[in-house]
Amino acid sequence: MYQQAAWVISVVFILFVIFVFLYVVAHSGQRAEYEPIQKKGYRIRNVWFLVVIATMGLATFYTLRDLPFERPAHAADPTVVQVEARQFGFVLSRNEFRVGEPIAFQVTSVDVNHGVGIYDENMELLAQTQAMPKYTNTMYYTFEKPGTYQVLCLEYCGIGHHVMTATITVVPAQEGEGK
Ligand code: CUA
Repeated sequence: MYQQAAWVISVVFILFVIFVFLYVVAHSGQRAEYEPIQKKGYRIRNVWFLVVIATMGLATFYTLRDLPFERPAHAADPTVVQVEARQFGFVLSRNEFRVGEPIAFQVTSVDVNHGVGIYDENMELLAQTQAMPKYTNTMYYTFEKPGTYQVLCLEYCGIGHHVMTATITVVPAQEGEGK
């Protein structure tokens, strides 16, 4: 779908460039006064400038309006989970949670820099942070669906980087206390 759209857009642009090129070639023999062309160019430039400013202004307004900094990303009383990354694996103090349970993953590393990425069953990235030695990053996340989730390292950390995984199980909200 996207590839097809990209293909069509590319072809249209290429045809447009060819058309402009041929137009210039066809008209290059004609002579014209420079001044009227220059004036016209300046007029187009003024309009273009205003269009660009207005577009950028609107885009800035609409994209910045949605920044999440004012909204708290986490509940007041999350479940705190220690996540320790090491070459090559993760140690989670807990790996079973309930749907809707707010979790604060406190992520650190015992050796080198690692990444911690939580993926759903479609391998879509839901949350991620860095695991750094002598430092704790807190990653807040609340699972919305029961299932099995994967934790993968997202930072190249050595020969076993690709085997650095862990599993998280999420059960429906009413099942178990998750302790
Ligand atoms: Cu740990 Cu890559």
